[in-house]
Amino acid sequence: MVMPIIDRYLIFYIRTADKLQRTARWIENLPGGIKYLKEVIVDDKLGICADMEKQMNELVDSYFCEWTETVKDPKRRKVFQQFANTDETVDTVEVVQERSQQRPTYWPKDSAGREDFKGHKWSSVSWQPVVRADHFSDEPPQVSSANVKRGDTQLAVFKIKGKFYATQQMCPHKRAFVLSDGLVGDDDAGKYWVSCPYHKRNFELNGEQAGRCSNDESMNIATFPVEERDDGWVYIKLPPIEELDSVLGTEKWKVRKGEAEDPFHKVDKKFKGMKGKKVTDGFLTRVPAVQPAKSIDW
Ligand code: FES
Repeated sequence: MVMPIIDRYLIFYIRTADKLQRTARWIENLPGGIKYLKEVIVDDKLGICADMEKQMNELVDSYFCEWTETVKDPKRRKVFQQFANTDETVDTVEVVQERSQQRPTYWPKDSAGREDFKGHKWSSVSWQPVVRADHFSDEPPQVSSANVKRGDTQLAVFKIKGKFYATQQMCPHKRAFVLSDGLVGDDDAGKYWVSCPYHKRNFELNGEQAGRCSNDESMNIATFPVEERDDGWVYIKLPPIEELDSVLGTEKWKVRKGEAEDPFHKVDKKFKGMKGKKVTDGFLTRVPAVQPAKSIDW
């Protein structure tokens, strides 16, 4: 008897809750709260229990694991390769061991914001084929951006409304190699922007100010001319590899252990020596109130 009630509960939640609404808030907002919920899913006050169970059965029957499907399909798997132009993989952040597990090291204290990537003057540039144009696709699995490797440098290539744009892959804010995964949008002036998926620095992709950051003037990124040619390749106008790597190489900007302060250090220090006690002992009321942060340094 328990399973059908859980099924009804879940379907009633799916059908009536707001998007992303917590179940506790949802129940509080029901007219009559948990009492009403019981009347609906146990006593069948609305006469919909059979229907809700049917809906749950349909849901269970149509379920499939997207990840299993992806792992089985080489075409879909390719979308998750680090680079669109090579099977190589490169670490962009050092890994630390903690409690017998691995985790990436903390965010670096310093950004690469002081570097003027946008204004960098390359000694010479020439067109280089970097990725096949058919890597990008409007058909599922849709692909509108790519991370490509040249030398030790990572470049983000975007295809927007049939045209290509290229930038460095590293977001200067925390030296994260993620820009090809950013959300792309446009503005009223017809400019395209990529928003870093981590903390939403927005970088302009086209126009005279390409490379500038709209919400953090302390940083900018390098952009490069791109074109698709009849030979089926996307070409980017780039400097020689050594010069490119000396400015944007992964080894140069990789986030290393020990660069960042442990963000939990201050908290640990504050509560050092305190022992946990049962809530009934009034422990929670004796813990000094933590002041809300005035700003969060991401
Ligand atoms: S790493 Fe890109 S905005 Fe923070």
